Amino acid sequence: MRVRVRAQRLLVMACLFVGVGADAWQVAAQQTMMLSYEIIDGERINDPLTDTPPDAERGRALFADINEAGCLSCHRVSGMGGMGRALDGIADRVSPAALRLWLVNPKIRQPQTSMPAYYEIAGQDPQAEDFTGEPRLSAQQIEDLIAFLTTLKSEGAVQTPPQGQ
Ligand code: HEC
Repeated sequence: MRVRVRAQRLLVMACLFVGVGADAWQVAAQQTMMLSYEIIDGERINDPLTDTPPDAERGRALFADINEAGCLSCHRVSGMGGMGRALDGIADRVSPAALRLWLVNPKIRQPQTSMPAYYEIAGQDPQAEDFTGEPRLSAQQIEDLIAFLTTLKSEGAVQTPPQGQ
């Protein structure tokens, strides 16, 4: 993430240097920073956002890091977090592909949700103080979170095959 921010600052500087307008810069930043994805049937993204294998342990640490993703401020999982909606057993109900769309932008499924989009800058307020013009998490972080969430199976649950993919 930090590397990305730095890369983006360099890009800003480069654009200022050659006198490119802010709009052009944002388009350039978007193209550089965000990988494209395809939403299938309005409910899932089948293909991983990155080719690098995900790491569930990294995802778990990220999930628990209040300062980074902030998941635990609204959720709890097997003893982590105090209040909020529990995600235990989520892997029994939701396929990795559906989790991917949900993390990229939950508002596509549920426009009223309070959960922020983690891989989408559309909907962010460009005037807001914390607006950076880049998604909250990197593609790799999204994949790590999915790998972690897929480990959350309820004990003794009958495993159903994941839908989609
Ligand atoms: C500001 C609060 C908030 C934050 C932060 C948040 N969520 Fe959520 N999340 C929700 C709410 C609320 C729902 C339930 C959908 C609804 O009713 O809006 C939800 C639903 C979910 C679901 C689907 C649950 C289901 O039963 O289908 C998953 C998976 C999930 N969140 C994962 C995460 C992860 C991972 C993070 C951190 C990267 C996160 N959430 C951050 C509020 C939040």
